[in-house]
Amino acid sequence: MFAENSDHGAAKLPVTPRMATLAPASSPSEAPPALNSTASTDEVLALMRTLIDLRMSPVRQLMEKVTKHSSMLHVDVLMLIYHLAKISGGGIFEIGSFLGGSAIAAAQGARASGVRKKLLTVEPGGQLKNHRLASRNIFKDLKKNLDRFGVAGDVTAINGYSYDESTIATVRQAFAPGEVGFFIFDADDQVGRDLNCYGDLLADDCWVVIDDYVGTSEKAGPTRAAVDPFIDAGKLVTLGYYGWSTWVGRWRKIL
Ligand SMILES: C[S@@+](CC[C@H](N)C(=O)[O-])C[C@H]1O[C@@H](n2cnc3c(N)ncnc32)[C@H](O)[C@@H]1O
Repeated sequence: MFAENSDHGAAKLPVTPRMATLAPASSPSEAPPALNSTASTDEVLALMRTLIDLRMSPVRQLMEKVTKHSSMLHVDVLMLIYHLAKISGGGIFEIGSFLGGSAIAAAQGARASGVRKKLLTVEPGGQLKNHRLASRNIFKDLKKNLDRFGVAGDVTAINGYSYDESTIATVRQAFAPGEVGFFIFDADDQVGRDLNCYGDLLADDCWVVIDDYVGTSEKAGPTRAAVDPFIDAGKLVTLGYYGWSTWVGRWRKIL
């Protein structure tokens, strides 16, 4: 569950603006399917271009600090989360906060938009040993980090699993159907469970970030097996792969 993405040296996967849908590869080490037919090449290129601009901006220094102290995600992914939180409308909903890196990036991006955005993150807590981000009390350290980066007042952290009845009730109380404009999943390998549970809360065109889609980590195979049917059904639109293993795209409401 906590294995840090370790495929740093893996060959970079080409992000091609191809418009055809290919059959999913049978193992996580094979190339992922190409962008689906509804992906906009302009949007894919705009995201890549934005990332280059962010790499040369002060946001990069901030996100490097965030990743050093509190995130397992690649700094490119944190910068994209910052960007998507800034440009997306509606609320932001994250599953799997760990020590808060991605939530801090999202909160900083939301703040940069100048618009107050509801931001909920779900984390059961526990402990992590033998890791550069080891923690004896993950939920307590998450709260500390939100405070340390000055976003404690911007983020509601829910202590529980995404599938707990109490979590589901709290999230459904916070967000009306279609209210979430940005969804981040970086938890276990069961993203399909949570898309099925919370999909109605996501706006049409909601931005979506799902970690562990690409690469050779043990979560990658099940994550791809969960995500690809949503892509095939047209409910998730792929816009790129970033960092060590992260899928970026949009949610489409199919009635
Ligand atoms: C890879 S870490 C998240 C990393 C974090 N997003 C970051 O920026 O570093 C995965 C986290 O998901 C949490 N988790 C696992 N299953 C979960 C679930 N069903 N609901 C919510 N959180 C979950 C784990 O406790 C763990 O802290």
